[in-house]
Amino acid sequence: MSSWRRLCSRASIAAIVLSVAACDGPQSILSPAGAEARDVARLFYFLVIGAAALWFSLMGIAAYTVLVRPPALSVQVGQKFIVGAGILLPTLVLAGLGGAGLFLMTEHRGQTAEHKIRVTAEQFWWRIEYLDEQGKPRLETANELVLPVEQPVELTLETADVIHSFWVPALAGKVDMIPGHTNRLVLVPEELGTFRGQCAEFCGASHALMAFTVTVVAAPAFDQWLRAQQNDAHAPPDALARAGQSTFLRLGCGACHSVRGTPAQGRIAPDLTHVASRPTLGAATLENSGAAMRRWLSHTEQIKPGVAMPSFDMLDEDELASLAHYLGALH
Ligand code: CUA
Repeated sequence: MSSWRRLCSRASIAAIVLSVAACDGPQSILSPAGAEARDVARLFYFLVIGAAALWFSLMGIAAYTVLVRPPALSVQVGQKFIVGAGILLPTLVLAGLGGAGLFLMTEHRGQTAEHKIRVTAEQFWWRIEYLDEQGKPRLETANELVLPVEQPVELTLETADVIHSFWVPALAGKVDMIPGHTNRLVLVPEELGTFRGQCAEFCGASHALMAFTVTVVAAPAFDQWLRAQQNDAHAPPDALARAGQSTFLRLGCGACHSVRGTPAQGRIAPDLTHVASRPTLGAATLENSGAAMRRWLSHTEQIKPGVAMPSFDMLDEDELASLAHYLGALH
């Protein structure tokens, strides 16, 4: 085998391995864990198999004409072949696929649900409000959805600034969030687990860092989570946390952030009442830990270009440590 052919075969093996590896994980349409995503995956396999069948028949015809060299077709037969295989067949196939897609879409989008959540996209994070029967917010959180398994949840999707797109590939297709417009999406999670959602419309410098987690839990755990999130923040548990809370209030963090049950009542930025209970920081940019919190507070703009929060790099080590400790105790 020549070195060129060896290189090509290795490259194609690597491409297959990489593409198959990318089909798994918490953010893949090919490992569906929700009703709509399951239909999307089914449609995908149907398209791949259909496209493969068409490709192989086309290649078969090409090989037949080149290798077997059959006698030329009459003009009439040739014309019929062009009209049938070149116009009628693609029209039928595309109309069928379009119809199937529209049918699936109305089936899922027409659903209603008992649980209602409003998700508002902001550069570059997600405001999440769980609503009561009257449509009023029961609680607000950020960058984390917790959903009950096997129960439909209706999301109201809005944006506070530019166009974003809400996408949890493992649960459903993507839906744009458009200024001045409200879109709906019903999720029916079918499996327990933690999945990743991602903004799917370029919205600025940190578009790629605008993600969130979706944790699907059993119904009792969901009710427990809702109750815990509705509570005001815990009082600082020790002296270091109390010092951190004073720093938090002195720096004016409360002008943008809320910590319910304290004087911090800002509405501009993520609600931090239970920030320590979330799996990530900075809209799924960092794992939530003490070290990550200190890094986030002191290097916000370096970690997330274009973010509205300034880096608090003027804080000394003690102030930073107490602030991170206070926020880390907000379970
Ligand atoms: Cu928000 Cu991209």
